[in-house]
Amino acid sequence: MDKDGFAPDVDSFSFSAENRAEVERILGKYPADRKRSAVLPLLHLAQRQHGGWLPRAVLDHVAELLETPKIRVYEVASFYDMFNTEPTGRVQVRVCTTTPCWLRGSDEIVRACKDALGIEIGENTEDGRFFLREFECLGACCNAPMMWIDDHFYEDLDYGKAKEIVEAIMRGETPEPGPQSGRKGSEPLGQRTTLLEDEA
Ligand code: FES
Repeated sequence: MDKDGFAPDVDSFSFSAENRAEVERILGKYPADRKRSAVLPLLHLAQRQHGGWLPRAVLDHVAELLETPKIRVYEVASFYDMFNTEPTGRVQVRVCTTTPCWLRGSDEIVRACKDALGIEIGENTEDGRFFLREFECLGACCNAPMMWIDDHFYEDLDYGKAKEIVEAIMRGETPEPGPQSGRKGSEPLGQRTTLLEDEA
């Protein structure tokens, strides 16, 4: 960890023994001559190991493993929002603010996260633990508004629920992910709204 609490920039990188086994498992899913198709899962694994962001040396190592030109890895890492190429808080708090979530109150979810963390969108907390950002649609519109923190979706949120969840994570807890409304998955809130006719 560097002086700001972020994972440090590094001159070289290699996967841990445990992750090397995971790399082998991932590569095993692709034909030997299509190794570079594994770039996304390998970058995810590398970013997780390196504390939330991908220094150049990490990208280079992934390129080497995939036997592909470095630029092929750089372009993927810089294109997708889920990869960070600058020092970033280890816990990533991402609030969806695309239209369906916005119509369902994502402004309030953003406000709850700002209030809990004491930072603005695009900022890291002083201790380098948390990074807050807006995100485009995460495919959970049925349960809007929602946020994605590390590996978990928290859905059917309001200001109070979102703030409670972020504060719990700040205390080191892992709140139950999924819909916070009590419904299962994306089943209708209340009662069925389709297939209402009686069976013949
Ligand atoms: S608009 Fe927020 S998940 Fe789709």
